[in-house]
Amino acid sequence: MSKFAAKAISALFAVALGFLATSTMANTDNDAIAERIKPVGSVCVEGDDCGGAAAPAAAGGARSGADVYSASCAACHASGVLDAPKFGTSDWAERANKGLDTLVSNAINGINAMPPRGTCASCSDDEIKASIEHMLDSAK
Ligand code: HEC
Repeated sequence: MSKFAAKAISALFAVALGFLATSTMANTDNDAIAERIKPVGSVCVEGDDCGGAAAPAAAGGARSGADVYSASCAACHASGVLDAPKFGTSDWAERANKGLDTLVSNAINGINAMPPRGTCASCSDDEIKASIEHMLDSAK
């Protein structure tokens, strides 16, 4: 075999290899790669357009009042720190006199030492309301 022929063959071989490599890559589903390497979570605050879905819905549907209470409200309302109305006591019977709507709007906006939304920035208004009902029920 002449040197030229050998070179030509190895060049062809390299081209063929390169082609194989590219076609293998092209066969891999780009969407599947994008899916694998996308960030694990994304922060979506209320008011943001989170891919069309409302923020709380993106987190997997509305949480129950009990869930929101345990996650966000119990820190203060279980023991009554800072004079927070205490879970399971007549504190909540007294607050109930203000009316649910007032309690909900005060919880959403914050009142005195009670932080807005009880620090649960991702809670929807309905979830805040459900957790208040959960605390109000505890007084009965
Ligand atoms: C950092 C402590 C803290 C957390 C967390 C907290 N609260 Fe409160 N909350 C308070 C305090 C203190 C008060 C009493 C405020 C006052 O009346 O002066 C209060 C009062 C309230 C009231 C009564 C408001 C009124 O008008 O009388 C509601 C309703 C309420 N909280 C709901 C919630 C909900 C719902 C959550 C959880 C999503 C929550 N709170 C989390 C401290 C907290």
